This record gives sequence, structure tokens and C-alpha cells, in this order.
Amino acid sequence: MTKENKNKVWGTRVKKPTSKLLQSINSSIDIDKRLFNEDIDASIAHCEMLSKQKIIKNDSAKKIIYGLKKIKIEIQKNKFQFKKEHEDIHLNVEKRLFEIIGDHAGFLHTARSRNDQVVTDFKLWIKKSAHNIDKNLTLLIKSFLNKAKKNIDVIMPGFTHLKNAQPVLFSHYLLAYVEMFKRDKNRIKNFLENINENPLGSAALAGTSYNIDRHFTSKKLGFKKPTDNSIDSVSDRDFVIEFLFIASLCSVHLSRLAEEIIIWNSDLVNLITLEDNLLTGSSIMPQKKNPDSAELIRGKTGRIFGQLSSMLTTMKGLPLAYFKDMQEDKESVFDAYDSLLLNIQLATELVNGMKPNKTKMLAAAKLGFTTATDFADYLVKKGMSFRDAHKKSATLVNIAEKNNLTLDELDFLTIKKVEKSVEKDVLKIFDLKNSVNSKKSYGGTSPFNVNKMINKYQKELK
Ligand code: ARG
Repeated sequence: MTKENKNKVWGTRVKKPTSKLLQSINSSIDIDKRLFNEDIDASIAHCEMLSKQKIIKNDSAKKIIYGLKKIKIEIQKNKFQFKKEHEDIHLNVEKRLFEIIGDHAGFLHTARSRNDQVVTDFKLWIKKSAHNIDKNLTLLIKSFLNKAKKNIDVIMPGFTHLKNAQPVLFSHYLLAYVEMFKRDKNRIKNFLENINENPLGSAALAGTSYNIDRHFTSKKLGFKKPTDNSIDSVSDRDFVIEFLFIASLCSVHLSRLAEEIIIWNSDLVNLITLEDNLLTGSSIMPQKKNPDSAELIRGKTGRIFGQLSSMLTTMKGLPLAYFKDMQEDKESVFDAYDSLLLNIQLATELVNGMKPNKTKMLAAAKLGFTTATDFADYLVKKGMSFRDAHKKSATLVNIAEKNNLTLDELDFLTIKKVEKSVEKDVLKIFDLKNSVNSKKSYGGTSPFNVNKMINKYQKELK
């Protein structure tokens, strides 16, 4: 046996030193060292269980736990030397444990495998991280609510096909995003239910002949119960894909927001201004202030989708149970998590610093005949069918357009010529405020509704 192989846990069986290429593709320590807290916590729980069940000696267990705690501190203080030749976080910790407590370290890996170890660590890490995403989504929602409260009566054009459609409240628009991020939070809540089963003790794939207590480790590690099938336990990466899907869909929402911010902030549209601290200048054009922050939110979204697509592809061809392909899952999740967290935090700052250009919004809302539907509704309330009213209103729009007028600039006689049943009160139909106030249906844009919703959201967040 070569000196190098003697150092390997499987050196007795694999006799030649590992090729440099294999070492470089196989070693995941640069990535999975981020699991060190979870790896050590899970090892401590496993060790306590082995000792409680009298599978290993109390004395060894004490030494193992002492060593593991020491290693955790070493890593936290940046005093731990990670070694590529020890592949991953699990073996790096185990190797160091041998250095600290000697041969007692050899008892820790009783009744477990790296296959159940890695899934356990990873589930713990993703649980913790999903909680953090959830917390940050709450902050984002709060920033929308604050902005909506401060601008409750600001009127803007609502769009369909990016053409002016109907007047809406800017606050109502902001609350649309609250709904999206609330759904993301709900998805995280369901995800945390789904992920809450402990794979530790499934060992390589078959379970184990030792009298282990998987309920004990489940409780210690904060899982609801042990997983029910050892083969599925080590094969399952649904939780990885589910997390990446949630991250992707949340990113869709962030990216739509970013896109909206970019358009609204453009010189052509100019509906909002942004805080200078989230804008960049140009190296050549002295006048520029660019919304790079929003563009990067949009840009990182593609990357997050890529990680989801990557894991779906990795998993689709794998028979049961463990394959090394799955090692790639960590990099995907860490990368998506980092990008998502940054995006949520950046979006929160963007929303906090966003100022509606109120005069421009109001002026824009008047363009595009946005109260044409209100006029049709007025006629319906006088007894006309909606289809007929729709035609009458379109005729009125044609007249306004031909004369280069907005609907509220038309005089009573012109309107009367289009439809003789109208009365003087028709003129207020073209008032934007009246239009917005009239949308009192549940979930509509009236200030009454918007206030009610803000209160509801605030209560929910408490
Ligand atoms: N580093 C590995 C991973 O992340 C741990 C599991 C290794 N198991 C094995 N049978 N080689 O997937």
C-alpha cells in the first residue's frame, strides 16, 4: 500500500493512489465545507444515540463529542485546515477527530454512512436557510406595505399589454407584489413540512443491524420523525429540487419587479425615481444614472433557474440509491440561495428608496382613454347591455381621439350626441379619482379596499 493510500479510509481496497484528475473532480470540500455546523451537530446527535443505546462506550462518546466541539470552534475561528485529499466535509472532520482524540474517533461512523450523513446535513442546512429566506421575504413585504401606506392615494395608469388600461392606485399595484411574496412564504412553509423527516440511520441504503434509536436523533436534530424507507432516504433529492423551484418562482416575482422598476425609471416612462445609492454611473456618459441593481436582480434570476434545471436533469436518470452525481446538489443550492438572498435584500432597498413621480403618474393615467370602461359601465347602469355600451364608449373614444382630447375634456353635448340617455352626472365618470373610488369590489383598487388590505397584511405579519 502506498503512503497516500494508507491515509485513505478505503486505502486497503483501492491500491493505487488516486489520479490527480479524479481527486480534483471528486473533492467537494471547497463547496461542502459550508455544511460544517450541520455535519458536526448531526455527528454529535448520532454519537449520543450510539452511547445511549450502548452501541459504543460512554468513554469513547465523551471523547468524540469533545473533539467534535473543538473542531467546530476551530472552523468557526478559521483555524481549521481543510484538505482536498480528504474529499468532503464528512471525511475532513473525521480525519481531524482522529488527530485530536486518537482511535476513539473510529467508533463514530458506526451504524451510519456518508450517504445518510450528507442528506441529513443538507436537509438541516436547507431548513435553516429556508427560514432565513422567509424572514427576508417578510422584510420585503414590510417595505411594500410602508411604501403603499405613504402613497395610499397616488393614482397611476394600470396596464395590460403595457398599454394604458384603467386608472389604479400605486398602493394597490405595490400590494400585488405583496401577494406574490406571500405565496412564496406559504410555499416555504409547506416545504418545511415536507423536508421535516430525518434520514440519519438509513446508513448506506439498507438500514443497519445495530439497535439504533432514530426517533432520538430525529428529536435532537429538530426533525418531526425518521424517514420510513432507508433506500428512499439516501436516494431522495426532492427537497433540493423543491427548494430550487421555490427559489426560482420567487425569483420570477423579483425579476418582474426589477423589470417594472427598470421600465418605470426609464427616461421614456419616468414614473419613479430611485435612491442614488442603488444606481451606478457611466464611464463615458457623464449624465448617466443607471438602475444596475434592478438589472442584476433580473440577471441573477436566469442563473437560479439554471440551478433548478441542472438538478432536475441530474436526478432524472438516476436509479436508486446513492450516486456521486448527487454531490453536485450542494453547489446548485448554495449558489441559488446566495443569489436569491441578495436579490430579496436588494429588492427591499429598492422598494424603500423608490419615489413615485405623482404628477407624471396622474398625467399618464389620463392618457389612453383609461376611463372608457367606466363610461360603458355608466350606460349599463342606465339599462343598456354591456355589449352595446362597449360600442357607444368606443365611439366616444374615437371622437376624443380625432379631436385630440382626453375623455374628461369632452363637453356634455358631444357625449349626449353619442348617447342621448346620459345626464349631467356623466361628466364625473371621466374623473380618475371617481374611477378608482368606484372599484369597491373585493380585491379592487378603491382606497377603502387598499386600506383594509394593508391592515390585513400587517395583522398577518405579526
Ligand atoms: N460528498 C458526498 C456527497 O456530497 C458524500 C456522500 C459520499 N458517499 C459515497 N458513497 N461516496 O454526495
